Formats: sequence, C-alpha cells, structure tokens
Amino acid sequence: MNEEQRRASQQVKEPKDYSKYFEKVFTAPSLKDAKKRGKEDIKYHKDFTIDEAFLQMGVGRKFYIRTYGCQMNEHDTEVMAGIFASLGYEATTNIEEADVVLLNTCAIRENAENKVFGELGFLLKYKRKNPDMLIGVCGCMSQEEAVVNKILKQYQHVDMVFGTHNIHRLPNILKDAYLSKEMVVEVWSKEGDVIESLPKKRNGSIKAWVNIMYGCDKFCTYCIVPYTRGKERSRRPEEIIQEVRELAAQGYKEIMLLGQNVNAYGKDFEDSTYRLGDLMDELRTIDIPRIRFTTSHPRDFDDHLIEVLAKGGNLVEHIHLPVQSGSNDILKIMARKYTREHFLALVDKIKVAMPNVTLTTDIIVGYPNETEAQFEETLDLYRQVGFDMAFTYIYSPREGTPAAKMVDNVSDEEKKSRLHRLNDVVAEFSGKALKKLEGQVVEVLVEGSSKRRDDVLAGYTRSNRLVNFEADVPAEELVGKLVHVRVVEAKTHSLQGEFIEVVK
Ligand code: 5AD
Ligand code: SF4
Repeated sequence: MNEEQRRASQQVKEPKDYSKYFEKVFTAPSLKDAKKRGKEDIKYHKDFTIDEAFLQMGVGRKFYIRTYGCQMNEHDTEVMAGIFASLGYEATTNIEEADVVLLNTCAIRENAENKVFGELGFLLKYKRKNPDMLIGVCGCMSQEEAVVNKILKQYQHVDMVFGTHNIHRLPNILKDAYLSKEMVVEVWSKEGDVIESLPKKRNGSIKAWVNIMYGCDKFCTYCIVPYTRGKERSRRPEEIIQEVRELAAQGYKEIMLLGQNVNAYGKDFEDSTYRLGDLMDELRTIDIPRIRFTTSHPRDFDDHLIEVLAKGGNLVEHIHLPVQSGSNDILKIMARKYTREHFLALVDKIKVAMPNVTLTTDIIVGYPNETEAQFEETLDLYRQVGFDMAFTYIYSPREGTPAAKMVDNVSDEEKKSRLHRLNDVVAEFSGKALKKLEGQVVEVLVEGSSKRRDDVLAGYTRSNRLVNFEADVPAEELVGKLVHVRVVEAKTHSLQGEFIEVVK
C-alpha cells in the first residue's frame, strides 16, 4: 500500500471517541434545541468581515459546490462562493480538480436526502485519488442529528459538516478542517441572527436573488424547515432596498425576494409595523423591470399587500401560493392554520384586485390517513382556483416533525395513484393556460439560447412561463433585454413564439 492509499483507507475506519475534540471543532445539531423559539432579541451583524489571517488560505486552490433544493440554498451557495473568492479560491466545475468539494443539501423530502448520501458515497472515489481533497456537507441536512450521526459513522471521508447558521464561519471551518485529522462538525441549532455584508458571487447577471427574511415559525406538521432554518427573522428594509438598488445599478433586470414565509416579513420588528406590503411599495419605485417573491403563506397574506401588488409596474402579476391540501381536515392536521374557505376567499380577493394574476401552488398528497374524499377535495379546489401550475409531492415523513409520528394507513400505491391523478389535472390546467396565450404578445426577459438549439432564444414571461423564439437579430443584442414576442404555439410546458421588438 503506498502512502496515498494508506491515507485514503484511514478515512473509512470506525468512528473514534470524539469527546476530547468536541469543544474545539464539534458542535452537534439538536432538533430539540432547534424547535425552541427564544424571546431573546435578534442580533444584527452589520458588517461581516473576514479575518486577515484567512485571506490567503485559498490561493492556488479550487472549490466546487453542488447545490440541492430550493432557491434559498442556491443563494446560500452564491454567498459561500463569495466567501471562497474572498479567501483566494478559484471556482471549478470539474470535481476532479477541486481542492474543496461542498454539498449544499436539502432535507425537505427523503429522496432529496438519498441523492446526497449517494453522492457522498461516490465522492469516496475522488478522495482516494486525492486524499488532500476536503469534502464538506452543509445546508439543511447538516441541521439534522440523525444525518450528522450517519455521516460520522458511515461517511468518514467527509472532512466537515456545517449548518445553515454557520455559513459565515466557513473560513474558520476550513482552517479547522485543514489542521484537524478528525471530522469538523459545527452546527448551531438555535439562531436568531441576521448577518449583513456577506460577500456574494452571483450566478448570472440578469436575475438575482435577495433574501428578505430567514427561518420559519409556522411549524406545519410535515415540515423540517423550521428546525433546519431557525426562527423567523427579517432583514431591515433599508438593507434590502439598498441591495436591490445596487443590483438595478449593475444592470440586473429581475429580483426574486426570498424567504421561507415572506408574508411574515417584519413580524419580528419590535419597533415598527412595517410589513411585506410596505416593502413592496418601496421596491416598486426602484428602476428595475421585475420584482417577484417566494414563498407565500396564505394565512399571513394581508389586504395591504394585495393593494400594493395591484399597482403593478415592476411588481409582477404572478403569486406562488402553496395551498398543500383542499380538505379542511387535512389542513388542520397539517397545522396550516387556514381553512379551504379562507384560502378560496383570499384567491377571490386577489383575483378581484389583480384580474390578470397567475396563481401557482404546492400540493402534498397522501398525507397520513388522507381519504379518497379528502383527496378529491384537493382536486376540486384546484379546479375551482384554476391554478396555472403546481409543484406536487407525495408526503415524505421527516424525523422530528409531528407528522412523522402519525400512523399512516394510505398505501404507497394509493399515494402514487393520487399524485398521477393530481398531475393530470395540473397538466390540463397548465395546457389550457398556455393555449390561451396563442396569438398574444407577451413580454419576455431574454436569458440566452434555448436548451436544445443554439439558434433559438429563451426567456420567461412576467408570469414565469418559458418562451422559446427565433429572431433575425443577433442573440448578443437581445440577451438581458425585455422583448415582445408573439406566441405562435403552446407546447406542453412552454411557449413557442416569434420576436417582434425590444421593449422600450
Ligand atoms: N413531504 C412532502 N412534501 C413536503 N413539502 C414540505 N415538506 C414536505 C414533506 N415532508 C413540500 C410543500 C412545500 C414544498 C416546498 O415542499 O408542498 O410547500
Ligand atoms: Fe415549512 Fe412553509 Fe410550513 Fe414554514 S410555512 S413550516 S417552510 S411548509
């Protein structure tokens, strides 16, 4: 066995007694602590800076980050890429030449987690080839005790595990990982901090993500997010407005405001009654063509917000409004804290104020003990609202959540069949919505060439529909621009069109 193989084989032996090491490099996650919502003030750290001692750490080294899950994770990856860049690391898309590999993970459903464990197994091959490669796991999965224990036991080639509240500690974690022979685990369970001025390396120059709040206090009974992302805390409006202004000045055309439950924005401000409606009203005045937000919770969607959104302009007429179920009994055991009637009344209010609105949603089928009749209530609600599109899921039990303890009498087969039946309805409505656009002129923000053909351009409408179109103008002149396109044909999931003109 040569030296390299010997070092690699050391990575897969049984876990050691870590206790002597815990204080220095080991902070374990605790779902129980993560559940607590303390009364202590949220701490704002206005000016994040990187210790000078770390600034040369990455010179001559490359990093690779693989991101799973939602847009919040995508944006966290941009922040980590920014930190890496500040440390002198260079990005690579080739895992084989990376000195640091991070998996930014998602815990929302079991299959998301299985993908990560599969990838971790796969990474052992690279670690054997290059034992100096640092492998890290971050994101929502690292906030789960069971996951961290499994990594400690079965994935000893992992060098670092850090949580969603520890991203700003990346330089220290890397330093510990370089110095330590043991796995570095740093996961803070309960966090109420907002950290400003973190560096970011944004993906692309047309659309940008902006966090407006972090965490979730809703504790829907199926959901792991309140445990993995901590308590609700909002960024101050002036910080958000400043960030959007800067992005507009840099030429970005579309902003996606991010939060797990954006309608709770501002609820944690002790000194003001400023809410999402107020924020949108201010952002409306910034010279940037499109502003969206995700994700909404129907319970906190207030009248003032509807009034502001109805003013239009750069506030797009598309609302993603997860309903999860159309049955009052299921909504109740999901702890969604609204009824079917409340949801339908809210939709009516929105439609009256915004006649051109496009509504999309999230739905879970096969909740523990969901009956056929309850499932049909979901289909019925879907038809009644006439959503444009939906993300649909089979319920996946998440350890530590109340729903995971519920006895479930719905078979896997039945769950799959319900998902198919729901997806048929989703496809029917989506198809109808697209068909209605045939012959119409839509505004498209051009992002580049289409996935399949270089000579076809692609972009999205204000209601987030993908449009592919041909133009006799060079692509460079249109990418990043808002253009008018006539819809020629509705495809299954997209629109086919022809270029008319650049929007003035
Ligand atoms: N099982 C299935 N789907 C889930 N979601 C959240 N938690 C679960 C779970 N345990 C879905 C919800 C949510 C979306 C982001 O993911 O529909 O809105
Ligand atoms: Fe999860 Fe959304 Fe419910 Fe929060 S509001 S617990 S993120 S489903």
